[in-house]
Order: sequence, then structure tokens, then C-alpha cells
Amino acid sequence: MSDVTTPRKRLFIRTWGCQMNVYDSTRMADVLAPLGYAPTEQQEEADMVILNTCHIREKASEKVFSDLGRLRELKQEKAKAGQQMVVAVAGCVAQAEGAEITRRAPWVDIVMGPQTYHRLPEMVARASRAAGAQIDTDFPVDQKFDHLPEVSAEQGPIAFLTIQEGCDKFCSFCVVPYTRGAEYSRPVAHILAEAKRMVAGGTREIALLGQNVNAYHGEAPDGSTWGLARLLYELAEIPGLARLRYTTSHPRDMDDALIQAHGKIPSLMPFLHLPVQSGSDRVLQAMNRGHKADAFRRIAEKLREARPDLALSSDFIVGHPGEKEQDHQETMSLVRDVGFALAYSFKYSARPGTPAAGQPFQVPEAEKDARLAELQALLRQQQDEFNRSVVGREIDLLVTGPGRHPGQIAGRSPWLQPVHVMAPGFTPEPGTMLRVRLAEAFPNSLSATLLSEELACA
Ligand code: 5AD
Ligand code: SF4
Repeated sequence: MSDVTTPRKRLFIRTWGCQMNVYDSTRMADVLAPLGYAPTEQQEEADMVILNTCHIREKASEKVFSDLGRLRELKQEKAKAGQQMVVAVAGCVAQAEGAEITRRAPWVDIVMGPQTYHRLPEMVARASRAAGAQIDTDFPVDQKFDHLPEVSAEQGPIAFLTIQEGCDKFCSFCVVPYTRGAEYSRPVAHILAEAKRMVAGGTREIALLGQNVNAYHGEAPDGSTWGLARLLYELAEIPGLARLRYTTSHPRDMDDALIQAHGKIPSLMPFLHLPVQSGSDRVLQAMNRGHKADAFRRIAEKLREARPDLALSSDFIVGHPGEKEQDHQETMSLVRDVGFALAYSFKYSARPGTPAAGQPFQVPEAEKDARLAELQALLRQQQDEFNRSVVGREIDLLVTGPGRHPGQIAGRSPWLQPVHVMAPGFTPEPGTMLRVRLAEAFPNSLSATLLSEELACA
């Protein structure tokens, strides 16, 4: 990763009009700085040109169009040299004549009204992607927020299979759309072939991976496009593949076909990671999540109607810019209403270049701490309750290997819980499915007793 303090791209802003516009131009330069753009006075050397326009003077828009004519030539010259130039029109002319600008000057990449400057990084990323450019930002990538689980060369009984990468959602706080680029789905045939190879090599449980996995829309062998539900039905037909999961999903892409698949595919495990981030409609909107809290409640209900033993896990962010105590309490009530078997919760931390980082009303650290502590206490309680609620149940346990103590077998429950079974002298192969009864719940695992040494199911 390159040094964030050494910009490699040049930004030229031409400002017309009032003090407000001058101020806005400074702000635009600020939000673009973390993307590696440094100001230049020379339009010719710019990688990005913003015309920040004003409508007050007569013929203002004609002036903008004649400037745009010159920029077209410059952009073409740069393209010949294999370089890119992003052209943006901001300010009142953009506001008043948005569609007219794109019609008369289709080489303009971005037209933005004054309310949308904080989304400039998103717009620049989209424009660069549309031009086929690789987005190479100077974001200090925080591994915690921008990774998929490591895929080890040695795939065991439980393995990951990446089916989708990138993200087009542009949540206000998140680096992934910039660092990982546009959503891409692998073709169905590649995925099926890889899954079959994995099963032949001993894998019994596959977790399909993607930053936005349920937005999957891959090309099928007949040329049509398959969504995730269709892909899951097909994978479920592979003999010897006992368990399927997928992660990570976005509530907006939880369509009815996918929800119903949870009721219809027995090997689709009854555990789903579905990040909600917040329970406040105001904050969800500020986060650009594209759904309301009640929509999430309905999805959870429908999933449980389809598969009554389904457990949910989620991600939460406390202290997003603008979050008030009332918003936080709405998150608390969503957690109480839905109930989670597991959850990851984070204090909001500004990722440079993302829209939220430039927003006013950042929440003081002490308030974030207090909210996180309150939320985590409730989530911890729910996790303990969930683990206790399955005690006494008979389940299939997928053996992963020997346990930590002599005579122990370790494995995974359908709800992804680590389970250990005392069975001295019995050493089943990893990948074996055992019938067990869950006996006792611990903070992060369960113990079980063996019911049969027979294979529980194929
Ligand atoms: N601050 C705090 N949490 C974040 N996440 C992503 N970006 C941020 C950020 N800037 C969290 C979200 C996401 C999880 C992988 O990381 O909850 O779902
Ligand atoms: Fe980031 Fe997930 Fe939002 Fe995409 S959907 S921007 S990966 S938080």
C-alpha cells in the first residue's frame, strides 16, 4: 500500500460565483485528497477537472458548455496517451441543467448538485469504473473491514468457495467499493466444477463467499443469469456435499426466492449472517443502506417462517456520524425484536475518502464507548440464550478433528457453533457426520454426547 501522503493524481477546479461556491470547491478538494488527488493550477495536467458553476450571471450555462467543449479535446488527447481524465460539473448550473449537460456533453462523467459533494468519492469511483479503469486508491486499508476469510490451500471438511467479489452498494462508512471495485460474479460452471473438486477432495461443508454474496448474478451455461437461490439449488444436488452456507449478505438483496430457498434446501444450514449495522431509519439512510429497520424485521420474520430453526447473526456500527442517543436506542430495540445468535459490533471509525469521514457531527469517543458497551452486553446475553436454547437437541455434528483435550472430538453444529464430544478411543475421520445430543453451553462453544457411532447422514 502506498503512502497516503503522496498524492499521485492532479485535481483542477474552476470556480465561478459566490463565496459559497469557493467554500464548496475547498470541500471537494478535501474529500478527494484521500483518494490521492492534489490540486493543480494547470488544467492540461489534471486527472480530474471540476467545473464548479454559478447560475447568477447571464449566459452562465453557455460559458460552461464552451469550457466543456475544450475539455472534450483535452480528454481525447489524454485518452490517446492512455491516460484518463474525469470531468465533473458541480454547482448551480449542474443543479438546474443536469440532464441537459449529459445530453449535450456526454463526455462529462459526473454531474452533481450541491447536496451531494460528500458522495464525490463514490461518484469518482463509479466514473473510473465505467471508463474501465482500475481503481487504485491510496486508502489505508483496514484489514478488519476489508477482507474475506483466508482460503487455505489445504481445504478440509469445511471450506470456502469465492463466488463473487466487489461491491456496488457504497455504504457511507465502507472502503470495500473503492478497494475491491465493482461487483463481479463468477460463472456458474466454474463454481460447480470447483465445488465438485472440493467434495471429491473430502469437503463436506462449503461456505460460498463474497463481499456481497447474495447480489450474486452469474452467467449460467445456457447464457442466462442465475441469482444465488438458483445457484444454491444446483449446488445442493452435488452428492456428498452435506452442508451449504453463504456469507456476507446485504438485506437489500434478500429476495423472496432466496428466503424460500432456506425452507426448501435441507443442506442450506439454518444460520445466516445478515449485517444490519443500525436499527435507526435516520442512520440507515445516512449510511446509504437503502432499507429501513422494519424491512429488516420483516426479512427476519420471513426467513424464520421459511426455516423455523434459523438463527441470525449480524454486524453493527455504533456512533456513525449524526447518530443520536435516540437512534442508538432504536438499534437496541431492533436487537430485542429480532434476537441474534451471534453478532460483531464496532465503534464507527472514519475511513479516509469514504463519505461518512467527511460528515460533520462525528460522535464523541466516550459516547461511542458507552453505546458499544450497552449493545455488546445485550448481544452477549442473546448469544448465551441462544446457545442454552439448543441444549438437549439432537443434531448432526460435522467432525473437524480431535478436540483440545485427550479423548475429545471437535466439530461444528448446523449453527456454526464449535462443539466438543468426549469419546475416548473413538477417532472418526474429519468430515464424518455424527449424531450427537448437545449437553452444555459455554460462552463460545458447546459440549455434546455421542448418540451413535454410525454416520448420521450422507
Ligand atoms: N467503522 C466501523 N465499522 C465498520 N465496518 C465497516 N467499515 C467500518 C467503519 N468505517 C464494519 C461493518 C461491516 C463489517 C465487516 O465491518 O459492520 O459489516
Ligand atoms: Fe461495504 Fe458491505 Fe456496504 Fe458493500 S454492502 S459498501 S461491502 S458494508
